[in-house]
Amino acid sequence: MNDKEDNNAEKKPFTLFNNETGQSIEIPVLQGSEGPDVLDIRKLHEETGMFTYDPGFTSTASCESEITYIDGLKGILRHRGYDIQELASKSEFLEVCYLLLHGELPSIEDKNKFIDVISNHTMLHEQLVYLYRGFRRDAHPMAIMVGVVGALSAFYHDSTDFSDIKQRMVACHRLIAKIPTIGAMAYKYSVGQPFVYPRNDLSYTENFLYMTFSVPTEEFKISPNIVKAMDRFFILHADHEQNASTSTVRLAGSSGANPFACIAAGIASLWGPAHGGANEAVIKMLEEIGDIENIPMFINRAKDKNDPFRLMGFGHRVYKNYDPRAKVMKESAHDVLKEINNNNDPLLKIAIELEKIALQDPYFIDKKLYPNVDFYSGIILKALGFPTSMFTVLFAIGRTVGWISQWKEMIEDPINKIGRPRQLYKGKVSRNYQLEDNRDKKSIFNWLWKK
Ligand code: ACO
Repeated sequence: MNDKEDNNAEKKPFTLFNNETGQSIEIPVLQGSEGPDVLDIRKLHEETGMFTYDPGFTSTASCESEITYIDGLKGILRHRGYDIQELASKSEFLEVCYLLLHGELPSIEDKNKFIDVISNHTMLHEQLVYLYRGFRRDAHPMAIMVGVVGALSAFYHDSTDFSDIKQRMVACHRLIAKIPTIGAMAYKYSVGQPFVYPRNDLSYTENFLYMTFSVPTEEFKISPNIVKAMDRFFILHADHEQNASTSTVRLAGSSGANPFACIAAGIASLWGPAHGGANEAVIKMLEEIGDIENIPMFINRAKDKNDPFRLMGFGHRVYKNYDPRAKVMKESAHDVLKEINNNNDPLLKIAIELEKIALQDPYFIDKKLYPNVDFYSGIILKALGFPTSMFTVLFAIGRTVGWISQWKEMIEDPINKIGRPRQLYKGKVSRNYQLEDNRDKKSIFNWLWKK
């Protein structure tokens, strides 16, 4: 019996009573190593004929996991037990990758071996270059990412079998190693510059910046502080428990789909403005605000129920306190702007003032809306020279290790089943088939052609 089973045995079951039928059932209560207890409703349908209803999964634990712990009320984020602030200040990204994937920080020997393994996989199959050429030059780099990452499964047949432990590991390494190359090439394609091949003598993050910003005509030079800031950005995005994109990866993987296809699904989910697309939206919003004196108007718009505008980079499903990643990101924004001698960046000024005003406003206080990881990250990325369309790509590069670690954990979990939610059906009940002449004449297409 493991520790968890032991814990579970100590918990009294939860009794559900149906006032209408007088039926009562006992629901086992599961206990994690930290965090809220969980009602184990796996037998609920079998015993009562009922489902639970939880749109957006606000009260649903979809799996057991040992990778990441979040306490949204206290503003805590830990990977494998290590606090994110400590990892961001003391570790480098590849070390965090190893930690997420294998559960422990690596010894010096294992770290070097891991760096070697990852370096071995940094190049892309040369044929993939032609895939890029099929895209329009103005394609959004996230569109390219979804396509190219999905296409990896057409190139690396020897690591698509999820049931083979060795193939699984190779797929994890390939994804971590190739994602910066894929992202950098998406950028190069959009600006019309030649693709730059990876250099394995550089660190993971320096190599990514080299592939992105170097040109064949000039020597590439970059400050170690900029490399550090980018590396920290990747660490802060490495994993975040069962968010929308990670849950998408798990759901896709639960059917036995290959890992490359699953990560492509995760990238698609990340793209939305309510998730990873928010960092791009924050910069657009700060530019639209334009001046500190316009802030109150935008705050009022965010509070207006009839206006769809929201303060981008504010609020989070889990954090009802300051996002711990946003704290580090804010410090990093100051460091980067100092490094590039741009202490007076107007967007940073607007962001700081916007945060100050929002955090004193009863609307944001009552709803517990605080800056999230995306609020300051765009300022850093813009200062580093990335166009806004690349912001979510950078998020995806950092998050790939989290997605693939969660995918691997799911595949190796003996409880793993295909994900198959049910529904509360509100549609038409059974009715007689209508022949064409008897059908409603009002066309549903009229609104489409209305000028
Ligand atoms: N600005 C103004 N009001 C907000 C904001 C915001 N940024 N976020 C939430 N609210 C309000 C909602 O209008 C709602 O009000 P109501 O209860 O009066 O209807 C209430 O706060 C709760 O909001 P929900 O949308 O129900 O909260 P949910 O947990 O579903 O959404 C989300 C969280 C999507 C992050 C939301 O806060 C949001 O849209 N924020 C802006 C986008 C953003 O920054 N996304 C990045 C998230 S972090 C990440 O993915 C890495």
